[in-house]
Order: sequence, then structure tokens, then C-alpha cells
Amino acid sequence: MTTEIGTDIEYAAELLRKGEVVAIPTETVYGLAVNALDAQSVKKIYELKNRPADNPLIIHVADADQLREYVQNIPPMARALLNEFSPGPLTVVLHKKDIIPDIVTAGHITVAIRIPQHPLTQRLLRATGFPLAAPSANPFTYISPTTAAHVAKMFNGRIRYILDGGPCQAGIESTIIGFAGENAVLYRPGAIAAEAVEKCIGERLCHPEKAVRTPGMHPKHYSPFTPVIATNSLEYEIERNKGLSVCVITYDTYSSLLPVTDQVLLGTSDDMSVAMNMLYAALHDMDQRGYDVIIAKRFPEHGLGVAINDRLDRAAKMKLPSKNHTI
Ligand code: TXA
Ligand code: MG
Repeated sequence: MTTEIGTDIEYAAELLRKGEVVAIPTETVYGLAVNALDAQSVKKIYELKNRPADNPLIIHVADADQLREYVQNIPPMARALLNEFSPGPLTVVLHKKDIIPDIVTAGHITVAIRIPQHPLTQRLLRATGFPLAAPSANPFTYISPTTAAHVAKMFNGRIRYILDGGPCQAGIESTIIGFAGENAVLYRPGAIAAEAVEKCIGERLCHPEKAVRTPGMHPKHYSPFTPVIATNSLEYEIERNKGLSVCVITYDTYSSLLPVTDQVLLGTSDDMSVAMNMLYAALHDMDQRGYDVIIAKRFPEHGLGVAINDRLDRAAKMKLPSKNHTI
């Protein structure tokens, strides 16, 4: 199979109508999309990603009218959040209607649903008329893609088309919020800071019960092949790993302990949206360059820093010894 990269919405829509998988741009990360109403197509996504069957997908719709077609009801807090943040990097978990196949939700009675903002994907959703089930376009546990080239690196020859919408603007996955009685639950920190969500609903967010298998919370998510150390003490870790070939992902200022060519500066702690935007591209890039270890400096633990640290900490959980990997 040849993988084409382009901006042809009608071609992408046609492939999706035929039950094929198409990679789509969103403002967060690229997704691997199929018709969410077609269980056979949805199955392909789990296979392509090597994703466990108990990890449900997010569905994408064009607007609030479409969203209402697929969920039982929208609680007031969900309504307020959708008004404030959609289209955009917000996913809400709501009770699904029967039309959504069980394979999408991994048997849950709830469905994760969002209204992406990216103009190409907006146009695609209007062209197809059906919702798109789309997890991030990376093999299970690997780093999410923020460019069409990242997707091609991971799925070349395995999907027909990558709709190229340029680099993703937010650069990290959506914030996932569920609703339990009077409470709003933060299932996954993401491109909208928890503080902004709390300000909108006027309530503190709860954290999911431990017993519930929580979304995006697989400990090995978002990992490159190169071992990652996520640390609050950058200089200490650089010293400790002397003798290895080390690269650094940091912010504000470069470390004086390494050449700047072995470092990526992700912007500043004053405006963490820049770092968020650059994070996955930096990990993809560093992972290609054959270092023994990537040392990443953790961000201040507030605002968007929470989601960035979450991804860095998860990347650090993965330790694969091989440098001779291919992807
Ligand atoms: O920004 C994003 O959300 C991107 C773009 C492509 O839209 N998508 C994305 O999908 O991050 P994925 O599959 O990589 O992560 C979706 C997460 C999963 O970890 C899953 O566990 C959770 O959403 N999820 C899906 N349905 C759920 C449900 N009914 N209840 C709780 N969590 C759910
Ligand atoms: Mg993902």
C-alpha cells in the first residue's frame, strides 16, 4: 500500500466512506480516523495501533448539533465547558446513544467526544456527515504525532492517506473531562489547563476513582525508544549520566554543561503553550538522533505544566535498551 500525503478533503472523505483509515490533523495531535459508526472500520484502528481492546476511542464531530445525535444528555457543566472551549482541545465523556458501536467505547456506556477546531478536519467532518473515531496516530505507547511527517514515519505503507494540516497548534492531546453526579472529573490533563476548566464550571475538578481504568493513563504512554529521564534537577542528572551520550530538553535557558547542539529549548516557563506546542516534535527529533538518554527538565506544576509533566513522566517510565530501533 502506498501512503499519500495531501490536502484533498474529498479524497479523504471518499476513503472514509469506503471504510478506510485516514490520518487527520487536529489542533492537538494527528489522529488515525475511521467512520465511528462502522464497527468493522473501527476494528482496523485497534489493529493498526496495536491498542488494547479495553482502551476506548474518542469520537470527533463537527459541531454541537452533531454531538447531540450521539449522547443521551448533556449535563449543565458539560454544556458550559462545550460553550467555552469548543471547537477546541476539550473532550467530554457522556452517556452514549446506541448508535455508537460498543467497540468504540470498549463496552463502556459512556463515549468520549470532542469538536476539533482544525479547519481541514472541520471540513472533512462536514463532508462525511458521520463522526470520526480517532485516537492519536501513533503505535500504542509511542510519542503522539504533531506533523504529517511524524505520522508517515510511523505508518508509511500501512494507511492510504494522510491529510496534511501542517504542524499542530496546541501540540498535546485534549483535556478529558467526565461527569459523576455533581462532580466534574479530570480524566486526562491536556491542552486546556485544569484551572481554566475550574474557572468555567465554578467547581474544583475531581480525580478519577482508582478502581476505574482511566483514559490516557497507561503508565507507558508517550514514550520514545531512547530512555527518558524527567527531572527537577537537570544539572544533577547531566552530571550523573556523564560518560553517556546525553541530550537535554529544557526551557528558559540552556544548560552550561552540554553543547547547545545537544539541547532543545522549549521556550519559557512564563508561556508554557510554546513548550507544549514543541514537546512531541522535540521528543521525535531527539529519538531519531541516537543518544543514549534524553534528560528532560520538568515544568512548574501548574497550568499547562501539569499536562507537560504528565507526558514527560510517562515517557520516563519506558526503558527500552535497544538503540537500533526502527519505526
Ligand atoms: O487530542 C486528542 O484527544 C487526540 C486527537 C486525535 O483528537 N486523541 C487522542 O486519542 O488523544 P487517544 O485514543 O490517544 O486517547 C483517548 C483517551 C484514551 O486514553 C481513552 O482511554 C480515553 O480517551 N477514553 C475514551 N473513551 C472514554 C470513556 N468512555 N471513558 C473514559 N475515558 C475514555
Ligand atoms: Mg494517544
